[in-house]
Amino acid sequence: MSDDLRLSGAHSAALEFDVEKYVRNSKRVDISDLDLSQAMEFPVSHDEIRALTYMCDIESHTIVYLRAILNTCAVEDPQTTSFLSCWAYEEFFHGNTIRQFLDAIGAPVSSTRMLEVQKASSFTEWLKELGSSILCRLSRHFHGAYLTYGAISELSTLEGYGVMARRTKNPILAEIVRRLAKDERRHFSFYYNKAKLQLQHRNAQRLTNFVIRHFWLPVGGGVKSDSEVSWILSFILGDPEGQAIARRIDTTIARLPGLEWFDRLSRSREEALGTLESQGEIGLSGQALLHSRL
Ligand SMILES: [Fe+2]
Ligand SMILES: [Fe+2]
Repeated sequence: MSDDLRLSGAHSAALEFDVEKYVRNSKRVDISDLDLSQAMEFPVSHDEIRALTYMCDIESHTIVYLRAILNTCAVEDPQTTSFLSCWAYEEFFHGNTIRQFLDAIGAPVSSTRMLEVQKASSFTEWLKELGSSILCRLSRHFHGAYLTYGAISELSTLEGYGVMARRTKNPILAEIVRRLAKDERRHFSFYYNKAKLQLQHRNAQRLTNFVIRHFWLPVGGGVKSDSEVSWILSFILGDPEGQAIARRIDTTIARLPGLEWFDRLSRSREEALGTLESQGEIGLSGQALLHSRL
């Protein structure tokens, strides 16, 4: 079968995600029924505040990522632009909701924080943006790459919020991150199912493999410092449950056509634990994580 025939076959296959239904139901995460003034009545650890601040930065950075993605051929696909319009709106309110919780527990994020995060974003992020828009002009198969990248990020984020919900002793925080995770699951479903269609084509697999192998970074990579990325990886994935979660993410992504090799979450987890150990930056929780790793 020629590549073109295979592509047309891929396009005639249905997307296993109802974009219209998603657009119809898209809304800001609602926590109006939660009494945030009660949040301080329950414990919140220093590490949880650090992780929430990290995620607040990343969720709030979505608009910058949207600018980058709209510079690519993503803007040419009506399903993708419909999805992205609602997705960016929902992600904005994720950042906003985490910010409200941090305010309520007396760990506020400064009003200039978003600008500071943008300034700290690395030069490679900018290069990646530029590279993506150029790659798009060279190959229509670039869709597979950003969709796969998005699927990995959304799956990592939803698993991360799941870990926080199960681990925290603060029921209000648990409920908030559970609600965020519900949205992330829908986001993941779009990226993953759309990537699955795009990756039917051999050239899309080749290009996606190249991009993921050379440019993929864990959630927050390129925006937060390397040491902070290592820290959150070990905080979320450091224990045996985290090891199983990293494997689960890898296995799910490896089911995408041509991505059978994918092992990046497990690898990043190991590297992060190794880095923190060698730098002697393992705190109390980290010690526990390292013990459970043995
Ligand atoms: Fe989010
Ligand atoms: Fe998301």
